[in-house]
Amino acid sequence: MKEIYLDNAATTRVNPQVAERMMDAFSNNYGNPSSLHRIGMRAEQTVKEVRERIAKTLNCQSEEIYFTSGGTEGNNMIIKGIVENKQRNRSRIITTSIEHPSVLDVFAFYEGHHIDVVVLGVDDKGLIDMDELKAAMDMDTILVSVMGVNNELGTIQDLRAIGKVIKTVNPKCVFHTDFVQGFMKIPVDVAECQLDALTLCGHKIFGPKGIGAVYIKKGIALKPLMRGGGQEKNMRSGTENVPGIVGLGEAIALRQNTYREEITTMRKLRERFIAGLEATVEDFKINGDPNGSPYILNLSFNRVRGEVLLHSIEGEGVYVSTGSACSSHKKEKQYVLKAIGLLGEYKEGTIRISFSKDITEGDVDEAVAIIAKAVAGLRLLVKVRRRK
Ligand SMILES: Cc1ncc(COP(=O)(O)O)c(C=O)c1O
Repeated sequence: MKEIYLDNAATTRVNPQVAERMMDAFSNNYGNPSSLHRIGMRAEQTVKEVRERIAKTLNCQSEEIYFTSGGTEGNNMIIKGIVENKQRNRSRIITTSIEHPSVLDVFAFYEGHHIDVVVLGVDDKGLIDMDELKAAMDMDTILVSVMGVNNELGTIQDLRAIGKVIKTVNPKCVFHTDFVQGFMKIPVDVAECQLDALTLCGHKIFGPKGIGAVYIKKGIALKPLMRGGGQEKNMRSGTENVPGIVGLGEAIALRQNTYREEITTMRKLRERFIAGLEATVEDFKINGDPNGSPYILNLSFNRVRGEVLLHSIEGEGVYVSTGSACSSHKKEKQYVLKAIGLLGEYKEGTIRISFSKDITEGDVDEAVAIIAKAVAGLRLLVKVRRRK
């Protein structure tokens, strides 16, 4: 059976060239970057080159990049690092209601710890309100964390405008963005956005899982999460994951010259998907912002349960998700949909489609036909059951 993988926001297949480079690193570049001999220095040089590559894509200096084990660690490292380093008695931290759990749970952890935790709401598209942000900010605000691209809806926040608001009210406040779903998919310039910290990871861009990096602007003081051998300038102790870093570097190199054009291709695929559904399915909604990331399409079907639909089309080789993979184990699964005010049966019938460069127009047409058939079948079943 042909498989059409439309869950690329959860993770992507490792590019064969990335895997090849990693295999080579496992066998031939196996040194510890801290070792003083030639084999160690070779590994250190590789790590340096990838650091420089990441810095170039973000428009920062390579000394401002620190490797991590991925997005979750990066978000924890920044938020905890800033809060644990605070010098003042009263402080405030601000985020949004639709962040990834690796941000929201850390904020929730600090509630009641003599810290004022503010969670900003969003509108029906998933966008924050600049006036609300401005009103929430004060001179005691030490951190604002707003994700660049939402993992469930694809909503893109205006980081440049947010940075301006933050720095106008309190130039000392740290501005962080979780950019896991945006990195190498939509361009970002940390200087232009006045960002002090950014989180990225490898496995959303055809790189390996378990590798990521953070940008931390020079001069920003953080308490490290990991203490030990003092790697990463004491910010993240632990022997560097050299094969992972090689994989991340290769994944970036492979996208560097193409990802800006890929956006147009993704937009066309997304539009084709929507047009196909509109021609064949009734009673469904598109969630999020039409100007959001073209890589993500969040749909709600009335009178269908998302999870049932997911398994029904899985049987035909089409793979999607009901929300984010990371919240599928959590009790509160639909907090993002609640935050945008999606109610009732529509909320229950939500699936997330996420595209990649490997998806063709033919795949889109096939997936649409399979979804349309499954939705019709499931609705008929509900109708028959209700009649009984
Ligand atoms: C927006 C966002 N932030 C953070 C993460 C966590 O990244 P990782 O899986 O590398 O820990 C994810 C992963 O799905 C994500 O989508």
